[in-house]
Amino acid sequence: MTCPAHEPIPLPRERDHALQPVREVPRLLREEPVRKVRFPNGMDAWLVSSNEYFRAVTGDPQRFSSRKDEIEPQMRQVSRPPVDNPAAFNRADGEQHLHYRRKLTKEFIVKRMTGLRPRIQQIVDEHLDDVARHPAPVDLVSTFTLPVPSLVIAELLGVPYEHRQAFQEAANKSLGLNATADEVQESFAKLGEILERVFDARTSDPREDLISRLLHEQPDLSRAELTTLCIGLLIAGHETTANISSMAILTLLQEPHQLAKFTAQPEKAGQAVEELTRCIVGISGAASITRRAVEDVEIGGHLIRAGEWVAPSLAAANLDPALCPHADQLDLDRTPAQHVAFGYGPHACLGQNLARAELEIMLVSLFSRFPRLRLAVPVEELPFRNDMLVYGVRTLPVTW
Ligand code: HEM
Repeated sequence: MTCPAHEPIPLPRERDHALQPVREVPRLLREEPVRKVRFPNGMDAWLVSSNEYFRAVTGDPQRFSSRKDEIEPQMRQVSRPPVDNPAAFNRADGEQHLHYRRKLTKEFIVKRMTGLRPRIQQIVDEHLDDVARHPAPVDLVSTFTLPVPSLVIAELLGVPYEHRQAFQEAANKSLGLNATADEVQESFAKLGEILERVFDARTSDPREDLISRLLHEQPDLSRAELTTLCIGLLIAGHETTANISSMAILTLLQEPHQLAKFTAQPEKAGQAVEELTRCIVGISGAASITRRAVEDVEIGGHLIRAGEWVAPSLAAANLDPALCPHADQLDLDRTPAQHVAFGYGPHACLGQNLARAELEIMLVSLFSRFPRLRLAVPVEELPFRNDMLVYGVRTLPVTW
């Protein structure tokens, strides 16, 4: 007997293979696209799986709030504090959200990202030179996929790269599901001190970077608001891209037929990046983002009560067969699907143009520089990250 959708089942987390979706995701998509689940910390949320309902939730901020006034269901540490700083705009609604997002939008438009491509290429090439100098095997996470997006976002903001350890630590703590409130706050405070010094330096000596522009063009922003915006960008700007690029490399190495297509058609790399991103987000955890119902809402015939948590599943929504045929398979020949790997609605990823440019340049450059690249250990021996909001692999030893 199946239990009714409002009686929670444990949040599905089991996988048959590290490079396959969470086992229950295809069944939920088929049979229970709206289903109450219980997270490991004991909290319940409605897991919303289909692409249609994902868009219905994330595209309707009036009825599904992004505010996080209480501990969220994904967090294992119930002591973790809510963020009450308004400039944490990814956790704000309506005007408050738009007020801050608008200040940053022009920094991430396609035109600006196109202008950044030569510098991204240079950073990628320098890191690949370093990889080539190391004796194989080399870990591509620590030498390539983590430092490249870190350096790019640091340069874009104007934060000297020597401080990368502080922002990588802040990202690890804030995106880690097990971090305690004190650990998160301590890492943010450390990063805040560094940023304060950067703000002082750029106030007297402005440069061609985002922090200088914000300081001079948005004088209404307080230092506290600036700090919050910059911490958000430093964290969002390197962790996701680092993980998606590691997983994209691994996926291509595991699927030689697709890799051959990728390398044979560099002019289609942009299209390939869309498909890779869709599939990799599709194998991430079943629930990584949340909303909260503002009023009673019916979705897919289920009544979601005001105040209840909703977890629109990025993973499931990107694997929905309604998106494209055989959505669970990587197919670099397909016309790009209208995926939601970068989210949907007013909170859709602000940095998606940057992420696309970085992924394309990283993947094309890596595989043309090392055409015989291969994994140095069996995939079963790789350490995957299951304890973070962003799924990925901790090390990726390769040889060539
Ligand atoms: C492949 C890499 C990336 C993926 C898959 C990704 C994915 C996402 C997703 C799914 C959301 C929506 C979250 C929600 O609706 O609650 C989001 C939001 C966001 N992303 Fe990304 N992201 C990536 C890279 C980046 C980069 C490079 C930046 C650079 C700054 C960035 C900045 C942001 C910001 C600021 C938001 C919050 C937007 C808002 O609330 O208005 N992301 N991202």
